[in-house]
Amino acid sequence: MNQADETTHFGFKDVPLGDKQTLVNDVFHSVAQRYDLMNDLMSAGLHRLWKDWMVNALNPPRTDAPFALLDVAGGTGDIAFRAAEAAGPGFKATVCDINSDMLSVGRERAMARHLDGQVSFVEGNAEELAFADKSFDAYTIAFGIRNVPRIDRALKEAFRVLRPGSRFLCLEFSTVDVPGLDRIYDLFSFNVIPPLGRAVTDDAESYQYLVESIRKFPKPAAFAGMIGAAGFSRVSWQSFSGGIVALHAGWRL
Ligand SMILES: C[S@@+](CC[C@H](N)C(=O)[O-])C[C@H]1O[C@@H](n2cnc3c(N)ncnc32)[C@H](O)[C@@H]1O
Repeated sequence: MNQADETTHFGFKDVPLGDKQTLVNDVFHSVAQRYDLMNDLMSAGLHRLWKDWMVNALNPPRTDAPFALLDVAGGTGDIAFRAAEAAGPGFKATVCDINSDMLSVGRERAMARHLDGQVSFVEGNAEELAFADKSFDAYTIAFGIRNVPRIDRALKEAFRVLRPGSRFLCLEFSTVDVPGLDRIYDLFSFNVIPPLGRAVTDDAESYQYLVESIRKFPKPAAFAGMIGAAGFSRVSWQSFSGGIVALHAGWRL
């Protein structure tokens, strides 16, 4: 198929593959200033626990040994800040995100927390990382991969930039698998989140995209297969909060 004819999902809509990134960028430009507040409101603060859970799994060294984390689609810096606070003085994080508005909020937050010496912010696309092969000790991506148009390319790039013996971790919304909770979760997602988005960010469409994109993301076993296809070994996953989120992990051996 000609690349111009390829389509993908933007929420429940089919769009030309080449258009998805622009649509995603519009979403995050629109919500950047209120992104962190909305996360707290939508998840009743649960996103903090999910992110802590990811950083616990990362378990960055608490020593002065050098350790370089790449946090892709890192937005306003939540994962990098948590990792920096848990780690020792040898830790450095690079937050890479395609959206300049999300990065600006992140830079301000890093300065306010006095973490700007340990956490740097770089504009870039997960599908084409501007970093050397084998240059990082860990790669994290939280609530980011489902927004990337060509997930297979992003996973191959993750593999390329990791040093052998280092870890890939992906936190993402997943599939609720608890009978009863699935119906409540759907009712909440489709009836509460877009109106809340309208009230807080004056943008219901971006939050409609959010809830639709979650439903379109591959199920955990299928996503694990994609991670393995990119070259990672010992791929595993764990679900959290009844399947609302899942943490996938793999090793570059
Ligand atoms: C839901 S936010 C997650 C931010 C942060 N990781 C967190 O957990 O709070 C998704 C982020 O993915 C970024 N993003 C979308 N497509 C991207 C791409 N192709 N490359 C890098 N970042 C991308 C967006 O700009 C946005 O900041």
